[in-house]
Amino acid sequence: MHHSRVNHVSSSSDRLPSKGRTGAAHGKVSPAITILGIESSCDETAAAIMTDGILRSHAIATQTIHAQYAGVVPELAARAHEQMIVSIVARALQQANIQLKELDAIAVTQGPGLLGGLLVGIAYANGLGMACELPVLGIHHTRAHLLANFIEKPHPTFPFLGLIVSGGHTQLVLCRSPYEMTLLGSTLDDAVGEAFDKIARMMGIKAYPGGIYVDRYAAGGDPRRFSFPSTKVGGYDFSFSGIKTAFLYFLAKAEQQDPNFAAKHRADLCASIQWALVDMLVTKVTFAMEKTGLNQLVLGGGVANNSLLRERLSALAAARGWHFFVPDKPFCTDNAAMIAMAGHYLFSQKNYKPPINIIPLPRMAL
Ligand code: KG4
Ligand code: ZN
Repeated sequence: MHHSRVNHVSSSSDRLPSKGRTGAAHGKVSPAITILGIESSCDETAAAIMTDGILRSHAIATQTIHAQYAGVVPELAARAHEQMIVSIVARALQQANIQLKELDAIAVTQGPGLLGGLLVGIAYANGLGMACELPVLGIHHTRAHLLANFIEKPHPTFPFLGLIVSGGHTQLVLCRSPYEMTLLGSTLDDAVGEAFDKIARMMGIKAYPGGIYVDRYAAGGDPRRFSFPSTKVGGYDFSFSGIKTAFLYFLAKAEQQDPNFAAKHRADLCASIQWALVDMLVTKVTFAMEKTGLNQLVLGGGVANNSLLRERLSALAAARGWHFFVPDKPFCTDNAAMIAMAGHYLFSQKNYKPPINIIPLPRMAL
């Protein structure tokens, strides 16, 4: 079953509880919890405000400078975060009509991610936390991609199987609670988003990241026109470098005959390679759902926006009687609403470390 959701994003605060009033969540009197979420681990500078798990605002600046390099340049990303962070946080506060003194905690991405970007967000959060005497909660970025499914209703219940598919990660995760997540398997080489982006590049798609364009061109193509070998690795793990190389060789050979091959057959190439990549994900998900015996499947990360992946997992879930959840599109790619959501769970469970100096963990383990 596929649950689509109404977007609750709002810039007004009048229908929501403010600090000191009753917490709406359980109908009992408890102070509302308001969290500021901050994300800066890759190429989006984002901030969000959440009260009692309800999103009140989110602001995002996507860095465009990397397109000309066909990949995120860490040093440039860090500088762009530094330029944007103050105004993005100010915008989120303003849109939610929230003053700093109304906050209960600051949640910030601690890792995994690019060190320079993490440093900007964390240094800012630590400083703001000290000035406002607020706890600073370090959030795991890829866990938060799964918790993005709790921003809108209906949302999953624990336990569930999580599939994180992004530019940096491809992971299958057994989720028992917001803080108990066990890694079952992950990619042994490239992330699936990275494979999409590199393949887009090989076809001459200049925009970055190219994954979304592969999806778009595929809409007009035949997925059976070309076939590409899927890579088989054991257990819960994935591998995408083989298929990427196979695509490169296939294209190089075809272009020896016809230098315009990629441009002429763009739609069919996109549809065929997208089918192959998505099929590898669907195969592993099927294996993992059967092996774990879970009946809820939860998707997260930028590639969760892929239309074929959504379609195929949704159909599979319907056929097998599983519940399938995927965030609304703005909450699949990097955003701060998911960081605030994770912060809300940590703070409301008091399951957080004291507000002492969060440090970046670029390789933070799941
Ligand atoms: O989660 P995200 O914003 O950043 C990371 O944490 O990596 O994911 C970005 C990735 C990129 O590789 C991008 O090409 C891919 O998500 N992506 C897509 C689609 N939309 C975004 N890949 C395939 N189809 C899409 N529709
Ligand atoms: Zn991400």
